Amino acid sequence: AVLILLGPPGAGKGTQARMLEESFGLVQLSTGDLLRAAVAAGTEAGQQAKAVMEAGGLVSDDIVLAILRDRMAEPDTGKGVILDGFPRTAGQAEALDGLLAQAGLSVTSVISMEVDDAAMIARVAGRYTCAGCGEGYHDEFKLPATAGVCDRCGGTAFKRRADDNAETAGARLTAYHAQTAPLIAYYEARGVLERIDAMSGIDTVASGLAAIVTRVS
Ligand code: AP5
Ligand code: ZN
Repeated sequence: AVLILLGPPGAGKGTQARMLEESFGLVQLSTGDLLRAAVAAGTEAGQQAKAVMEAGGLVSDDIVLAILRDRMAEPDTGKGVILDGFPRTAGQAEALDGLLAQAGLSVTSVISMEVDDAAMIARVAGRYTCAGCGEGYHDEFKLPATAGVCDRCGGTAFKRRADDNAETAGARLTAYHAQTAPLIAYYEARGVLERIDAMSGIDTVASGLAAIVTRVS
């Protein structure tokens, strides 16, 4: 199966993709994570992407597609993938179709995670992750069971993203509405679109998504 989680920053794509990975054995492919890894490693693509990401804009299709293509070629993607944060432009959506067609595949389902803009800013501004395993947390909505200790790996170091401040979050939201939201109609016309109310709690959204994934895959 090839599933796409589509939604604005803070919709919960990463949170839900990791949960689906654990329950369905799918592999999460987050272009945001892949780009942040490239920035941290100082690769040429990473150096070009860094300033764009810090300003909340979209990295060029060429860079994103090269990174995604390399990751899709790895053997663990055979069971199925959840694309998190990709595609984000019409060009990326078309390139994805081409890439999948070469492997005899097509997009199984696109799930649009619907939230309102104000909630998104609050979610993004309160977010942090475990430095050890990447588990996501939130100052208000998702605290570890023991303060300061990761539920998943027991780690005690946490980090925040450079682009998780109100100003950059606003720019990311603008980019979403201008370039990514039109993909909802694109996939709806193909009959592969599902919508989910992503304003509910994390577990409620997770069960809604699990029902969709069970039905389509
Ligand atoms: P990326 O890393 O993809 O960030 P994003 O799309 O802005 O999404 P986020 O990671 O902010 O949000 P999310 O939906 O995953 O929410 P999360 O689960 O963390 O991209 C970053 C940058 O990289 C882009 O700005 C761009 O520059 C570049 N980039 C990436 N892909 C690209 C592409 N394809 N093309 C071009 N450029 C690209 O949840 C957020 C918080 O809310 C967490 O703290 C979580 O605990 C909490 N939360 C989650 N769900 C709920 C809930 N239901 N209720 C309450 N709290 C919740
Ligand atoms: Zn951890």
